[in-house]
Amino acid sequence: MKLENFAQRRYDHEAGWRINPDAGDDAPERKFPYVDNGTDRIDPARYHDPGVARREWERLWTRVWLVAGRASDIPNRGDWFKFDIGKESVIVVRTGTEPGDIRAFYNVCHHRGNRLVMADFGHGEHFTCAFHSWQWNIDGSLNRITDRDTFRDELIRDDPPLAPVRCGQWGGFVFVNLDPAPAQGLTEFLGSLPAQLAPFRFEDMVVVKDVQTWWPANWKTALDAFLESYHVHSIHSEILPFYDDYYQQWDLLENGMSRMLMEFATVSPRVADQETVNDGLKMMLADAGMDPDGFAGTAGEVRKAIQRHKVPALKAEGRWGDGLVENQATDDWAYFIFPNVTLNIHPEGFLFQRFRPDPKDPEGFVYDVQVILHPVEKAAPPVYMGVEDGTDCSGRTRPERRHIRHGEPGLGFVLDQDSMLVPVVQQGLHSRAFRGMRFSEQEQRLRHFHKELDRYLAGEK
Ligand code: FES
Ligand SMILES: [Fe+2]
Repeated sequence: MKLENFAQRRYDHEAGWRINPDAGDDAPERKFPYVDNGTDRIDPARYHDPGVARREWERLWTRVWLVAGRASDIPNRGDWFKFDIGKESVIVVRTGTEPGDIRAFYNVCHHRGNRLVMADFGHGEHFTCAFHSWQWNIDGSLNRITDRDTFRDELIRDDPPLAPVRCGQWGGFVFVNLDPAPAQGLTEFLGSLPAQLAPFRFEDMVVVKDVQTWWPANWKTALDAFLESYHVHSIHSEILPFYDDYYQQWDLLENGMSRMLMEFATVSPRVADQETVNDGLKMMLADAGMDPDGFAGTAGEVRKAIQRHKVPALKAEGRWGDGLVENQATDDWAYFIFPNVTLNIHPEGFLFQRFRPDPKDPEGFVYDVQVILHPVEKAAPPVYMGVEDGTDCSGRTRPERRHIRHGEPGLGFVLDQDSMLVPVVQQGLHSRAFRGMRFSEQEQRLRHFHKELDRYLAGEK
């Protein structure tokens, strides 16, 4: 039905598209009410002005909950990881054996300001400064001031503990907040996200791929590109044979968050041939463990056929969480965790992307790409997760973080295409002729994000 009508389509911005028109009000695929964020155009200075970057530092990054990393990366007491945000650095450490025994501290020595740790990950009972070897225990208490007798007592009688950073956990993520008294607790901040995403059981998942890179663009220039699929027909057109880039469900959630439900294993309505089981669909069938040459149906029947095949298989392997719906076996559920994380979620796991500002350059950002999966011994993750053949997905080994330069391949085909695009957009934003973004309703998640950012920058949050 929807495909025949593509030429005459009329989008109703309040009703939106629905990925499953039969979904009830409580169903996971329910349509959330439209949020009217107006039609203001975003000032391009937001993407390069150092004054805006400073305000973001003072009013956003130092006040909001941020995904610092994964609890599964620090499974044992004494394990820690480092999380850098802007000009700050935080150590996140496991201090005991209970799931809640994770604490966070500023990564700075109270003697003369040296960083305490330099590596991304580590393990130990203490943090020892490399400069004059002051030492702290993993609970943050001071263990040693070297040659203590040479300090006048008033300088050190407080036995300075490491400065704590607020932290909390959800879904296997460790969040930190640099604000000592955050306006919202983590639970309030996340709103309905934990309930919506509970069936995926994120907390059981492990990191199987971890890449870090730096791109010459503002963090928002890149993030914006991952909050919409409007550019897919133009930049990533080779996925149109098996991906519906138009009929998607865009839902705006609390606190600037949002989601986008997208059909895989479906031909885009922009493709003329809607009948033939094309090579892309054949690839999807084969990837799901089916015989593409033995498939007797039409292109329009592939998605449901894959779902019928995959659900029991995933159930048998214990990878199908209670409360998932059949469409999730094929589809991509893309969520945005304000202010800087996107997740592309499938029953097997998700693609994690995080966008962090370069503290020295508003036109640079640190880009983290991770694949986080339910551990499996043999089965390979779906091809669209971008995990290289031969990757250990058992959870027994945590892959090294790979650092790649901008422009080097390694992120996966689609993201490599974005890596060429985003810095060029960044250049265009400087043009005197460009007066600000005009967002379509396909880009409503961008507007929702920027409105929430406005509230932070105005000091309302
Ligand atoms: S700066 Fe850390 S011990 Fe001196
Ligand atoms: Fe893209």
